[in-house]
Amino acid sequence: PKLAFFVDPLPTPPSINVSDGRNHVIKAFKIKQKLHRDLPSTELYAYGTSESTASYPGPTLEARRNVPSRIRWENHIADRQHMFPVDPTIAWADPPNGGVPTVTHLHGMEVESVYDGNPESWFTTFNDTGPKFVTQDYAYPNSLLPSLLWYHDHTMGITRLNVIAGLVGAYVVRGPEEPPGLPTGQQEVVLVIQDKQFLANGSINFPSVGIDPSLHPDWCPAYFGDTILVNGKVWPYLQVRPLQYRFRILNGASERYLTLSMSHRRLKFLKIGTDGGLLPRPVLLRSLTISPAERVDCVIDFRRVRPGARIIVSNSAPLPFPGGGGIQSSDGKVPVMQFRVLESRQPGEEPVVDVSTVPARLAKRPPLVPHNASIVYRHFTLTESVNPVGVSTDLMLQNRTWEDPVTEVSRIGGTEIWQFINLTPGLAHPIHLHLVKFVVLSFQSIDVTRFERGLCSLNESFGRRDSCFVEPPRLPEPEDWGWKDVVTAWPGNVTRILLRVTSQSGSKFPFDATSGPGYLWHCHLLSHEDNAMMRPLIIQR
Ligand code: C2O
Ligand code: CU
Repeated sequence: PKLAFFVDPLPTPPSINVSDGRNHVIKAFKIKQKLHRDLPSTELYAYGTSESTASYPGPTLEARRNVPSRIRWENHIADRQHMFPVDPTIAWADPPNGGVPTVTHLHGMEVESVYDGNPESWFTTFNDTGPKFVTQDYAYPNSLLPSLLWYHDHTMGITRLNVIAGLVGAYVVRGPEEPPGLPTGQQEVVLVIQDKQFLANGSINFPSVGIDPSLHPDWCPAYFGDTILVNGKVWPYLQVRPLQYRFRILNGASERYLTLSMSHRRLKFLKIGTDGGLLPRPVLLRSLTISPAERVDCVIDFRRVRPGARIIVSNSAPLPFPGGGGIQSSDGKVPVMQFRVLESRQPGEEPVVDVSTVPARLAKRPPLVPHNASIVYRHFTLTESVNPVGVSTDLMLQNRTWEDPVTEVSRIGGTEIWQFINLTPGLAHPIHLHLVKFVVLSFQSIDVTRFERGLCSLNESFGRRDSCFVEPPRLPEPEDWGWKDVVTAWPGNVTRILLRVTSQSGSKFPFDATSGPGYLWHCHLLSHEDNAMMRPLIIQR
């Protein structure tokens, strides 16, 4: 269906304070919700405290730093069969009594692994549980720096289906580490961005024929929508006052990168934070590129914009990213949402004065430096298997799948450098690690053909005769000099990250990271993590 732009106001999901000392219950239901003025209600799987209040996205959970929150996750989805085609040829939960298995991962949280939403810890409403199920009662320490996290389903082999069905929500950790003065209240807005395709009857269109049906009858290496939803509405608008606003943006899309820009020349994004909290200093940008699962914290200053202005936020990221040509409009931009700037004074109201300020120094730099004598180096190739007609049929990390023996065993307190060698032409992979935050060290292009033929080495630095590198390492841009839990591994490059196996605060984890089913790391393109770009990560003393 062809849908009109900017006809629905941006919704705000309900918000719940989960650091109030109580036990909270968040349940997954099948619901119906209007996602656009001209679209019939859409069937979704969604989180909420009750069936009537469940929503897509789910409630925004608000936590205080170092105040634990306790959440019981329940599954009330009574469908015997998933609303989308499940591909039985990829490793998936496959509950004996049918139903829709779910397990929730709080993306970005440092937490004991029994509460981490391991893909094999799923459960259904018909009492089946996955092999690594321990409990539905999760406890989060909230020991992270203040930041935007998100929760989403992580069930083995069907994460892409459960997330596109609606099982996502935002989670905010707040604390005194954030400088006072940043825009707050009405001037702080969480934006959860996803893309979807719809059928005329309002239901979500998920392809039921795989890209190579002889191998995988239903699985495709990507799901792209032709509409973009923000907080559960297709192409919404937001009325803003001529004030500063803080936008906490999550790219919750399955595979779509975002490069956001605004139609108004004088407006820029002042980026103030990354996945793991505030940047050392704000960085003013014309556009923001955000990978799937990545979060960007930014401030937009509408004070010098003419009242009545209508500003379009659009996406210009190619798809697939970055090498694809799949942009659906002539100017290379696809609308995301619209800002409508109001008069500062509404009839019958006092004039508003903006008291917000963005300090020049926001946070300490992540205290990670790569000169520790005992650094553990790991390197991983990112590859795809391709069938005779050139179609991608599986994706792998170091040629291993989830089921292969555990290779990433990290020691508490250890310092590690991980290097991702992306050999998939034209295709970036957003790599996410559970449990730890990291910093991005560098990117460096390589001669992929010579590397694949074994004609050169990655151990020789650039300039040496046998080196695979074709340039010196490039540093990340200043807007990425913060804590991260997702990094884009660029095609034809080695991407390096540095991490310490400790709490983000620098001290010991306030829980036992060595117990339970363990952690994982994976590509966050959901079709990739489902098949089979996902690996266990085990922590030892
Ligand atoms: Cu956002 Cu392993 O997940
Ligand atoms: Cu991938």
